[in-house]
Amino acid sequence: MSDDPYEGFAERYDLFSETFDTHDPAIERFYRRLFAEHGVHRVLDCACGTGRDLALFHELGCAVVGSDVSEAMLAQARINLASAGLSIPLRQIDFRELPGHFDHPFDAVACLSSSILHMEDECEVLHAFLSIREVLRDGGILVLTQGTTDRQWREKPRFIPAVMNRDFTRLFVIDYIGAGARYNVLDIVHGETSREFKAWSIDYPMMLLRDDYVRLLNEAQFSTVDCYGSYAFSPYDPEQSRLLIVVAER
Ligand SMILES: C[S@@+](CC[C@H](N)C(=O)[O-])C[C@H]1O[C@@H](n2cnc3c(N)ncnc32)[C@H](O)[C@@H]1O
Repeated sequence: MSDDPYEGFAERYDLFSETFDTHDPAIERFYRRLFAEHGVHRVLDCACGTGRDLALFHELGCAVVGSDVSEAMLAQARINLASAGLSIPLRQIDFRELPGHFDHPFDAVACLSSSILHMEDECEVLHAFLSIREVLRDGGILVLTQGTTDRQWREKPRFIPAVMNRDFTRLFVIDYIGAGARYNVLDIVHGETSREFKAWSIDYPMMLLRDDYVRLLNEAQFSTVDCYGSYAFSPYDPEQSRLLIVVAER
């Protein structure tokens, strides 16, 4: 049996959003400003999944490379990029093992949508941060994002609707297990002509929140760590925020 949790899910993953290559304007504005402020031209998305953010970074004028450990996600990224007419290099690399794979350092490395939460423990997270730091130029930035915030972790909602449109519902049913969580993803197609139900689970062995990121990124020798609670650069508020964006500078 494959140990890739995304096998069998990769081809459905993009049901999170309606189209592959149109982007939320708020997210686009966020990266445009962030990349301008940090002189970012060359970007690695080191957990690129099915490639959505590669398309965004390309649209912002960056030279982009995508890597991911999951062959299933990379296969879907190849399909998505080809159908959008984009030629972006993709590599199968574990983000704990990035050094030695690239000829030039990057201005930014993205590790988005909770990808870092796949690590088993803090030792592995530190290993990943050191690996990422190594492929950044001095002054280059690491960007992390996740929907799990201090507020959600405190409130521990069992059900979170991720997508609700006329024909399709995606519902997260969350089991909080020890220090981590299992996200059971329930997909229900309820169109006029097709009705279908599929479910799968993604495990996050250990939750990381704002203070954990600041501590671990400092330990990995990142010089500054900024945390935002929205794509409008509002400061992260542990009481209220529903999004955690971490930007760490090498
Ligand atoms: C929730 S998905 C996010 C994908 C994409 N960043 C997005 O925002 O849609 C998590 C991704 O992290 C990747 N991943 C998990 N562990 C990894 C590792 N050690 N090295 C590289 N990628 C990893 C998974 O294969 C998956 O594609």
